[in-house]
Amino acid sequence: MMRQVNVAVLGAGTVGGGVVDAIRRNGRLMASRLGIELGVHRLVVRDTRKRRDFDTNGAKVGADWREAVVDPRTDIVVELVGGTTTAREMVLAALQAGKPVVTANKALLSAHGEELFAAAREGGANLYYEASVAGGIPIIKVMREALIGNRVTAAYGILNGTCNYILTRMRAEGAEFETVLKDAQRLGYAEADPSLDVDGIDALHKAGILASLAHGFWVDVKKVAAEGIRGVTPLDMDFSGRLGYTIKLLAAIKLEAPKAPARGGKAAKAGASGLRISVTVCPTLVPNHHVLASVSDVFNAVFVRGDIVGDTLYYGRGAGRNATASSVLSDLADAALDLRCGERQRLPPFVPHEEFGALMAPGDVVSSHYLRLSVTDKPGVLARIAAILAKEQIGISSVIQPEGHEGASVPLIFMLHHATRSAVDRALKSIRRLPVVTGEPALFRVETFE
Ligand code: NAP
Ligand code: HSE
Repeated sequence: MMRQVNVAVLGAGTVGGGVVDAIRRNGRLMASRLGIELGVHRLVVRDTRKRRDFDTNGAKVGADWREAVVDPRTDIVVELVGGTTTAREMVLAALQAGKPVVTANKALLSAHGEELFAAAREGGANLYYEASVAGGIPIIKVMREALIGNRVTAAYGILNGTCNYILTRMRAEGAEFETVLKDAQRLGYAEADPSLDVDGIDALHKAGILASLAHGFWVDVKKVAAEGIRGVTPLDMDFSGRLGYTIKLLAAIKLEAPKAPARGGKAAKAGASGLRISVTVCPTLVPNHHVLASVSDVFNAVFVRGDIVGDTLYYGRGAGRNATASSVLSDLADAALDLRCGERQRLPPFVPHEEFGALMAPGDVVSSHYLRLSVTDKPGVLARIAAILAKEQIGISSVIQPEGHEGASVPLIFMLHHATRSAVDRALKSIRRLPVVTGEPALFRVETFE
């Protein structure tokens, strides 16, 4: 007999509205596949008088989320409110009541993931978060299930739809940053606070979730400084293009060589386990011949290298109403099936299996870099900068002083060989102090995907 599962959707903005609408459109199709009918019986919003641009389809609309969570008819709670305060209370309350929760909230998972996973364990309910990373791409399922037999040696992701949309339009049309950001907001791609997008924080939250799933220890991204796209100029796009690259906000998660084992105790075990990873999120020059260079607009892509499978690629819309709703529906189907099977913890939301995994200090991460300076155009400038780089053992692979820039300051672009980030930062500190250097330098990683 067809079973009915009642869903309380908390939040009916871009994503919540999309979920209600998608269930109205495809609920029957899902029911025929699952043998379970999903019905949104409660919808919680902040302002009940606001006009909604979707059919609420008979759901009771209210502002009291506690009432919706504790309603004995509510089988599954979907949190689509955003933020890390009320949303945390909502998710905790539902899990403590033993109700499975679906969320798209990567900021919440990043800040409170361990606490929420513990609450899920204790409440005997599951927490599902497919929509928290890369919008409509089922990358959480891939990491948790499809690649379960692989050690992930590297994962690279274009993980923020808003940034990719902005960079694509700036490059293609020479469009202004602020104008394109407004369009991204209008299209429902951006976070309520868009600085989370453009400053790289949202992509870092997502990278932390992927890194944790791939490597089995909770990766605390507070130890990584995200670098956003505000400093990327049309000149950078032009010159990186001439050098054979496209600039993307790229998250890179890499399995690094193990640190020399320390003597004694826990540290020795950590060395013996040998699992060390690096996580970076910053504007990155991606070679034009690499598949990630052609990922445009709001699309995201995740390139995962497994030791058994080799290279794999996942692509789709990274933000927006329908793409994100699709991932929420996938979680709802899993939650409904788990409820029907009476197995509320079939696969726990996060399995910490690598007790001694460690995150590499950002300063130790080695990479090639693109450096753009603004300098006074006079003899000897290049020599002084080259001397500072040489002192830090940083090789220069090419230097460009583009023609056609006249006046007090001109751009000077360096492609730097592999060096640790701390060596590059030290050099940059000295370079900034030179009186001939005007304006803020731009430093981006160059990725070779080796
Ligand atoms: P949104 O459009 O701002 O919608 C937020 C919804 O939450 C609104 O319906 C709002 O009510 C409601 N709300 C806010 N505070 C509330 C409270 N205290 N009690 C009850 N309801 C409250 O946000 P969104 O873009 O849908 O994003 C929701 C979540 O999905 C966020 O965690 C976001 O990071 C994540 N996400 C978004 C996307 C995307 O493309 N937008 C993609 C992936 C993940 P009112 O409508 O009455 O104001
Ligand atoms: N603001 C996010 C983005 C939404 O632009 O990628 C999807 O997580």
